[in-house]
Amino acid sequence: MSGAPSTDPAGHAAVAERDAVGPAFDRLWAALEPVGTDPTGGYRRLAYAPPELELRAWFAAEARARSLDVHEDRAGNLWAWWGDPTAGDALVTGSHLDSVRRGGAFDGPLGVVSGLLAVDVLRARGVVPSRPVAVAAFADEEGARFGVACAGSRLLTGQLDPAHALALTDDDGVTYAAALRASGRDPADLGPDAEVVPSIGTYVELHVEQGRALDGLGAAVGVASAIRAHGRWRFDLAGRPDHAGTTRLEDRDDPMLAHARTILAAREAATAHGGLATVGRVQIEPNGVNAIPARVRTWLDARADEEASVRAIVADVAAAAGVGPVEESWTPRTDLDAALRDRLAARLGGAPVLATGAGHDAGILALAGIPTAMLFVRNPTGVSHAPEEHAGRDDCLTGVVALADVLADLLDDAAGVR
Ligand code: GLV
Ligand code: MN
Ligand code: MN
Repeated sequence: MSGAPSTDPAGHAAVAERDAVGPAFDRLWAALEPVGTDPTGGYRRLAYAPPELELRAWFAAEARARSLDVHEDRAGNLWAWWGDPTAGDALVTGSHLDSVRRGGAFDGPLGVVSGLLAVDVLRARGVVPSRPVAVAAFADEEGARFGVACAGSRLLTGQLDPAHALALTDDDGVTYAAALRASGRDPADLGPDAEVVPSIGTYVELHVEQGRALDGLGAAVGVASAIRAHGRWRFDLAGRPDHAGTTRLEDRDDPMLAHARTILAAREAATAHGGLATVGRVQIEPNGVNAIPARVRTWLDARADEEASVRAIVADVAAAAGVGPVEESWTPRTDLDAALRDRLAARLGGAPVLATGAGHDAGILALAGIPTAMLFVRNPTGVSHAPEEHAGRDDCLTGVVALADVLADLLDDAAGVR
């Protein structure tokens, strides 16, 4: 059991631990920094593309350097085990390594780095875990390449049909199956992992905050309460291609007009139903200046506290678009384990508790019935999914010690909170 020193975040032990972990944090972060930089700013680390594969190799090497046993599950997620995975009731932490296009440095990697460093802190405290501990790097959390968010954790827990996943395509027409094959994986293996899922007792994900609530509250670390309902829909708007200079306005069937209505309706519907709606992606065929498009594919991301509001937004946008949408991804409102949430907040000296509109693998594991919690680290810019996303070094180190504290606390009571 832990025999851990008092690590009140304001106390001397915490400060000493933060200082001690600083050089290792700098080393890990410096190794990540050059990987997958986007020439237009930020990072582009799409699932199973070379930069993300390089990050996976980095994760495996760091895990092995810690004598953790590295394993990849059938859904492509990486696991670094401290202890015997078959013992069950594992205490798991981690996050993801992939990013959106032109994404920030912290969304995902901060949780993976913090998980590895939390293991270092626990070992330095002399913790001998009473149950297995794992650091996980979930595959394809952003869904930026193939369209389905949290594909790795959904596949793992049986919330995404592998046949459906394998047929998904990226912008270049490469299927999920082909991307797996190109990276040396056998697509036939893709699917739920009946060995891994039952072994997970508790999951705690640390993540950069994707808003400015903690900054406003003057807190370096917060605890998540819930993930708002959210999803992605695609509208296929068909038109009739023709010449821009010779086709009379009254003769046109221009799908760009429906696209414009869709965008405006998204904003109005979000306002009317108290949610958020974003059109951030569009494909135009053939995408020529002097041609009326043949087809516009436009994607809607809609989120709200409750499912009914999201569905109302989507219905309004569909009415404006004039076609029914294809639902590409859906996550219901997910309330994280209340007892675990309260226990973490108390352990961290009354850390603020906040809900988020961002999706996470933590939400998917919670939906699979796994007691799940999240820690957020202050992001003074409030920006995320953009290069300006940021967390200060001191706050990152405070996050590592906070994560170690809550893991130690959960190891002290193997009965946990279920
Ligand atoms: C993932 O970060 C999402 O919320 O889209
Ligand atoms: Mn993200
Ligand atoms: Mn994330």
